[in-house]
Amino acid sequence: MENSRKKKKTVTRRAFLQSLSGGAVGAGVASRVLGKEPRSIQSGPGEMEVFSSKRIALTVNGKKVGFETEPGETLLQVLRDRLRLTGTKRTCNRGECGGCTVLLDGKPVYSCHILAIQAEGKDILTIEGLASGDKLHPVQQAFIDKDSYQCGFCTPGFIMSSVALLDKNKQPSLDEIKAGLSGNLCRCGNYQKIHAAVAAAADAMRRG
Ligand code: FES
Ligand code: FES
Repeated sequence: MENSRKKKKTVTRRAFLQSLSGGAVGAGVASRVLGKEPRSIQSGPGEMEVFSSKRIALTVNGKKVGFETEPGETLLQVLRDRLRLTGTKRTCNRGECGGCTVLLDGKPVYSCHILAIQAEGKDILTIEGLASGDKLHPVQQAFIDKDSYQCGFCTPGFIMSSVALLDKNKQPSLDEIKAGLSGNLCRCGNYQKIHAAVAAAADAMRRG
């Protein structure tokens, strides 16, 4: 027993981190922790850039923003923690609830599941960018008129998904509304009123 314990190999923290450098993520972590220079590594058929921090620019609600980002920083972190756009909610923070939904080049995405680096050069629209001055977007107005929220935590995500849906489909059926919002969860169970708001917004938008 004593002998076998002596024979065990000791793996130091440094050796463990170095052993990770065969993978892109591991190399990124290792280079950051060990202070190595960022470099490119071969990862499968293509070459992947490994960086410890990088300056990027993207457009948020029509305004260009530039900043240094680190490999693991998400778009949600950028929006809430750097830009203080807290209308986008951090709820599950793991791609399950849709509370963090924003539009990326017009498509709804979970901002907790997109790295900031992946949003480089893209157009991001958040709930704060929907209104025109004092005039709410028809979807925002319909959520108020139809009393479509209780705690309201899911509401910004639902509104952004609804805007994306109505951009593509001006007159969605109830089934199409349900399908379009299937990536968003409401813990208060307010789905009927949410669907009614989207139908009302579609009517309003068609009437102009
Ligand atoms: S917070 Fe992003 S999906 Fe739940
Ligand atoms: S209104 Fe509370 S989670 Fe939807």
